[in-house]
Amino acid sequence: AQLNKLAKAAGKLYFGSATDNGELSDTAYVNILKNTDEFGQITPGNGQKWQYTEPNQGQFSYTQGDQIVDFAATNGQIVRCHTLVWYSQLPSWVSSGSWTKDQMTSIINTHISNEVGHYKGKCYSWDVVNEALNDDGTYRSNIFYTVLGESYIPLAFEAAAAADPAAKLYYNDYNIEATGAKQASTVKIVTLVKNAGARIDGVGMQAHLIVGSVSAQSTLQSAMNSYISAGATEVSYTELDIRFSSLPATDSGLQQQATDYATVTKACLAVKACVGITIWDYTDKYSWIPSTFQGQGAALLYDDNLSKKPAWTAVSSVLAAA
Ligand code: G3I
Repeated sequence: AQLNKLAKAAGKLYFGSATDNGELSDTAYVNILKNTDEFGQITPGNGQKWQYTEPNQGQFSYTQGDQIVDFAATNGQIVRCHTLVWYSQLPSWVSSGSWTKDQMTSIINTHISNEVGHYKGKCYSWDVVNEALNDDGTYRSNIFYTVLGESYIPLAFEAAAAADPAAKLYYNDYNIEATGAKQASTVKIVTLVKNAGARIDGVGMQAHLIVGSVSAQSTLQSAMNSYISAGATEVSYTELDIRFSSLPATDSGLQQQATDYATVTKACLAVKACVGITIWDYTDKYSWIPSTFQGQGAALLYDDNLSKKPAWTAVSSVLAAA
């Protein structure tokens, strides 16, 4: 049976996929994406990012994000909205300005109230702050941090909560799926936001993983439980893909990939507060990896020809057994 249907039967809210505007003209691709038995949730891979939604100060544009959100609504799929405050895909008017604290506060508040207001009622969740941490657990030095210090984080959550009281508000990052320095700092972010009196509901673990290097299921569960203990009410895998660091993929590699996907799926099933799994697009045809990590890829559940891989079968079996 199909992934979302099985995930829901197992008590999860959804199994979903990211997608992007350019892909929606690929009919064969869309026919799989819109099948809610397979994918009950959609994330816009790019269209809601700051560079597209406020390319110039005070000038808002939601054409790209709307296309994906409308697609999901038409098909009865929920949307994880992505993302509000991130150092990347940030227009240069934000990143290269010399702002005072008051100006930066106003820039963040205006951006969030406008965008979250535009999508009010349409987002299951918002990735409010994305990738605020370095891998060693220190804060990433971005323009928001440079001007405001860590207080930009609770500030962003407060603005998002005011603009859409019903959306689940997430901190989202990579390399926080397992315990370690970055996971420990993520716990501190949850605490920071709560201590500031703002609302944070969830931690999103992007989970851009590597075949053969996925942590033990118990370690994945420990990380999730640490976020819940810190006061998050839910967690999810938000951008899951498990790539080959060298290609082509061998048969035994594909089996290892299947095992790795099964491990992540089992971990989510074992933690009640893990509400769902989103893969960062569903087919290798549209994966972000080959253009970022040269010579790597084949990270998803469907191959370039939209055929299901062994990893699909593994995820499906694990969900069916739950
Ligand atoms: O929009 C321009 C287009 O006008 C231009 O012609 C074209 C030529 O290169 O580039 C287009 O922009 C690209 C954009 O995707 C939209 O396709 C950028 O170059 C490209 O860098 C950008 O990549 C995205 C990446 O974020 C940027 O950091 C990926 O598609 C997207 O999947 C990826 O997603 C991120 C998450 O948001 C956060 N977590 C990590 C994840 C993977 O990097």
